[in-house]
Amino acid sequence: MKILLVGGGGREHALAWALGRHGHALHFTHENPGFDGLGEVVVGDPLERALALRPDLVVIGPEAPLAAGLVDKLDAHSIPAFGPTQAAARLETSKVWSKEFMLRHGLPTARAQVLAPGQTLPMVEQGVIKVDGLAAGKGVWVCTDESEVRRAVSEAMRINPKGKILLEERLSGPEVSVLALSDGTRITPLPAARDHKRRFDGDRGPNTGGMGAVAPVGIPEREECVEILQRAVAAMAHEGVPFRGVLYGGFMLTKKGPRLLEFNARFGDPECQVLMTLLDEDPAPWFLGVAHGRLPGRTIRTRWAHACCVVVTADGYPERGADAAVEALPADTPDVVVFHSGTARVGGELRATGGRVLGVTGIGPSSEMARERAYAAVRQVRFEGASYRSDIGASLWT
Ligand code: AMP
Ligand code: GLY
Repeated sequence: MKILLVGGGGREHALAWALGRHGHALHFTHENPGFDGLGEVVVGDPLERALALRPDLVVIGPEAPLAAGLVDKLDAHSIPAFGPTQAAARLETSKVWSKEFMLRHGLPTARAQVLAPGQTLPMVEQGVIKVDGLAAGKGVWVCTDESEVRRAVSEAMRINPKGKILLEERLSGPEVSVLALSDGTRITPLPAARDHKRRFDGDRGPNTGGMGAVAPVGIPEREECVEILQRAVAAMAHEGVPFRGVLYGGFMLTKKGPRLLEFNARFGDPECQVLMTLLDEDPAPWFLGVAHGRLPGRTIRTRWAHACCVVVTADGYPERGADAAVEALPADTPDVVVFHSGTARVGGELRATGGRVLGVTGIGPSSEMARERAYAAVRQVRFEGASYRSDIGASLWT
């Protein structure tokens, strides 16, 4: 299959790796040193590139092109795309729309109020404040007292002065990411994954894009989470905006059961890095099935294995990215894969350039083995300021 892949981060390297194993002709709209040897880089505007190339399928990794309506534009030219339309991507791109959708359809989630721009804040002692719209990992404040709530609301108004603000009940419990491919009607779930969002060991420090991920996570609530995703897909179809793509449910497992914190309209990163290593078949026919609204009537095959991805970042991440030569990298083996998130080739030299630089995934028959393999490989990474959490996948319930 001739495939155009949009996006150039660790998630897209993982997608390219999974597709590349099955002999597809890959083309990339972004550069990533990890793409070397996997296909042809044709940097440029994704729509123009797709029109020139006429691929069998366009696979879209990040949220920004979805929010910009790339899938709708490709549809208009009859080019199949893996990803939701702009209207369906609102599940991610508007936190307010998404919350109202969840409440309208009785999907379990935190109670919430919407503040219109300029509306005064009611008395609240604690809660979670969210800015509407894509905020690139920022725009969510978990507040434990009233002064924090007030500060968060002012900050939210500063970031998006014309936008609505969501004021949510604060929930507690472990978090899990459950993703499913959806053709608009039917879904096929992927193994439950856990992302470690905080910067430092012990879940301390600021929220980040993700410091590491593990899958599968053995949780009794998985079926319930999958059922919630299925209900969401049915509700989207009912509203006339079928969701075709990968639906990502971010759940908090509360004492009262799983609650949706958010939807994403794309693969999570680094979740995608572990999920791709666990696939036991070619994902291309599944992505094409999603694009055509016709998923096979079975679930996608995954390996009986565990995967653990440790993200190696710049020491200043999430505030600052790296700028250093990559002096050493572990070799890929059947049990270890390295995906590039923030590297670039400059004059023949591989350099660390991003905040999240590399994702190192270990695969093994148990979560412990996967973790040991990932960390053994991570210790071989050398660039100035290389930094990582030492407790990815270490807690009991993984
Ligand atoms: P979001 O971007 O909505 O996933 O929020 C980012 C992070 O904020 C989540 O991963 C949670 O750790 C936290 N969070 C979001 N909503 C809530 C909530 N209602 N209660 C507690 N924590 C939350
Ligand atoms: N890892 C979380 C995300 O991709 O949004």
